[in-house]
Amino acid sequence: MKTIAINGSPRKGWNTHILTEEALKGAASKGSETELVNLYDLNFKGCISCFECKRRVGKSLGRCAARDDLKPVLDRIHECDALIIGSPIYIAEVTAAVRALIERLTFQYITYNKDKTTFFTRRVPLLLIYTMNVSEDVMKSIGYAEKFKFYEDRFTALIGPAKTLTCTETWQTTDYAKYEMTMFDGDERKTRRETVFPRDKRKAFELGAGLFG
Ligand SMILES: Cc1cc2nc3c(=O)[nH]c(=O)nc-3n(C[C@H](O)[C@H](O)[C@H](O)COP(=O)(O)O)c2cc1C
Repeated sequence: MKTIAINGSPRKGWNTHILTEEALKGAASKGSETELVNLYDLNFKGCISCFECKRRVGKSLGRCAARDDLKPVLDRIHECDALIIGSPIYIAEVTAAVRALIERLTFQYITYNKDKTTFFTRRVPLLLIYTMNVSEDVMKSIGYAEKFKFYEDRFTALIGPAKTLTCTETWQTTDYAKYEMTMFDGDERKTRRETVFPRDKRKAFELGAGLFG
């Protein structure tokens, strides 16, 4: 059993990284081998629409043919037993690197055939983790929840049953006073980090363990 987790934040040791690691620890508690990939260490692009993954006679049918740092990760994901993808929300979306990963990971499996949805022949459970500045109420009222449901449904159709964990009002910097950011109360965020974030970590651990039933 092997679980791969993607940290889709450029910041190591921060919210997304911590939660993806907690989810991995949960998977490890069920006996899974684990691997964490820091996406921002890799040099890669999104889908380049070469169409090799759709070519009828060709060695790349159903598999991404672009060769860069992401290709070996896609190959390992193709073989893994559970997948965790963590991303901060940047301008109401996953980060650019996670979006590029999603293009490459999902487009290779999408078929344009009428009678078949995916080229992926197994079912692999997924956990999608998002961290963000907004509150849970705002997250729901400005359309983020629909976006997360969209990703959950696409992954479920193409790869396997996907679940979502959201972590809101994150602690964004160690010293709010240093920056132009009067919209946020740094003390409140720090208190939340000490009181609510541990609950999010526990949820991440439990959902990580839940990837294995
Ligand atoms: C470029 C950028 C854009 C952001 N845009 C949003 C946004 O649209 N909505 C939001 O709720 N938070 C936004 N944030 C805040 C981050 O999502 C939040 O601080 C997140 O927890 C950071 O993750 P990290 O600590 O793992 O790096 C943004 C942060 C950055 C740096």
